Amino acid sequence: MSMPENVPWWKTAVIYQIYPRSFSDANRDGIGDLQGIIGKLDYLQWLGIRAIWISPIYPSPMADFGYDVSDYTGINPIFGTMADFDRLLNEAHARDLNVLLDFVPNHTSDRHPWFIESKRSKASPKRDWYIWHDGKPDGSAPNNWKSVFGGDAWEWDADTEQYYYHGFLKEQPDLNWRNSAVQEAMYNAMRFWLDKGVDGFRVDVMWHMIKDAQLRDNPPNPDYVESQPTYNQLLPVYSTDQPEVHAIVAEMRKVVDAYGDRVIIGEIYLPIQQLMAYYGPQNDGAHMPFNFLLLNLPWHAPEISAAIDQYEGALPAEGWPNWVLGNHDRPRLTSRIGEHQARVAAVLLLTLRGTPTLYYGDEIGMHDVPIPAEEIRDPQGLNMPDKDLSRDPCRTPMQWSDRPYAGFSEVAPWLRVDKKYARVNVEAQRNNYFSMLSLYRKLIQLRNGEPALNQGTYTPISSTDQLIAYRRDSPHGDSFLIILNLTSRPCRYRQTDLLLKGQVVVATAPELEDTPIEADIYLSGDEGIVVRLEPIGNTS
Ligand code: NOJ
Repeated sequence: MSMPENVPWWKTAVIYQIYPRSFSDANRDGIGDLQGIIGKLDYLQWLGIRAIWISPIYPSPMADFGYDVSDYTGINPIFGTMADFDRLLNEAHARDLNVLLDFVPNHTSDRHPWFIESKRSKASPKRDWYIWHDGKPDGSAPNNWKSVFGGDAWEWDADTEQYYYHGFLKEQPDLNWRNSAVQEAMYNAMRFWLDKGVDGFRVDVMWHMIKDAQLRDNPPNPDYVESQPTYNQLLPVYSTDQPEVHAIVAEMRKVVDAYGDRVIIGEIYLPIQQLMAYYGPQNDGAHMPFNFLLLNLPWHAPEISAAIDQYEGALPAEGWPNWVLGNHDRPRLTSRIGEHQARVAAVLLLTLRGTPTLYYGDEIGMHDVPIPAEEIRDPQGLNMPDKDLSRDPCRTPMQWSDRPYAGFSEVAPWLRVDKKYARVNVEAQRNNYFSMLSLYRKLIQLRNGEPALNQGTYTPISSTDQLIAYRRDSPHGDSFLIILNLTSRPCRYRQTDLLLKGQVVVATAPELEDTPIEADIYLSGDEGIVVRLEPIGNTS
């Protein structure tokens, strides 16, 4: 791969998110595991991936499928052993694949020894490790804060006669990050994995970590609509995104930077300006606060292109961009925008400036899978049954082949497999030139090999009701023009001032590859093209 020595790997890498329960089951218990992941590293290398982020693999009662950690420095036996993890790390590194763990600092499991100790008595040395508070004089909760997963965020403990705060499930009590012993314990947990050679962390709900010191009531949200989670009834202005969080993030950054070339990616759902603060005032915060713009916006060219430019414009001087189309909390891309536009979105993700993160299965166009009510496993879905909020549909087993259970497992998996697996699977798509997988692979390979794409500048060129066009240029003179039709109707891209010439190198419709481009360019509906531009001297 051609890239200057001094560019950190995480700027040029394509990152791939693995939801371990659903990736590959090697020990035939219906749940994915570390051995399963090891068995698929060759596939990821073939695809051109340079880093994997694995959702939590720590010991956990699995109330929130691993986001309720009961030991930060262990491996859950469901997934394997520490020896399996060490092997995974070695095998990944041997294939030039870096490994990011999911670090969950905001809350532990209620079965974590720290919480068990904290809950024991008001006098416990660990009492202050969590957020305990007396009720109001009438016995009600200390304030009106709500849990993201439905209901109140305060749980009464009858034994010690206080409430504890949980931003998520009551089985996920929030740590008190204002306590220095908590900070040190958590930094040590990070060091444990960094010492092993882990290349960094995706940090769970980074913007939740510090709460208002006075625990003031959150104001009502005037825009709340019934179909939304009850959490949205209030604006979380006192329970999240507090100014003091940035000092914590800066400390985490120091811990990681002490190890050299590692990375912190922060999970943060906030408007652009607030998000930017997580880069830190001196670029000393998270290396990459996750950018979820493309997950939330309507799939319309004007909105998307405006958001890209707004994001690019808001980035701090040293801040490196990143892009995401899917994750384990959100509906799958194909189910949001359709199979045809999902191909256009792939071109967008892999040609924008900034690190792309790909959600497992999106590269083969996996869909959200309807899960019958009696099979729902996700607590968010179970707690608010009338709102259709279960995240199970986007967490179904990876579809590897047309064998039973899609080659994910030899036994019935923990969540049902998509009925479409006979058609939508890696094996079927691998050698099919027209498949989603082939498109992803071509885009990734192109991106990996072209400094213009993996680190060059981004220049918006045109945007209409239908299309978005932009250029990517490297300092060495290589340039690409990307034109995307975000509608299903044909459209024309008119070249006005400067006449650009070149050749299509990758397209949503592979037939277009090698087509020369000059003057006006006509695109079919749902079409996206990547054009290698002729050097400027050859441009008329
Ligand atoms: C964000 C994670 O992505 C989600 O899956 C989890 O339920 C919450 N954080 C709570 O940890």
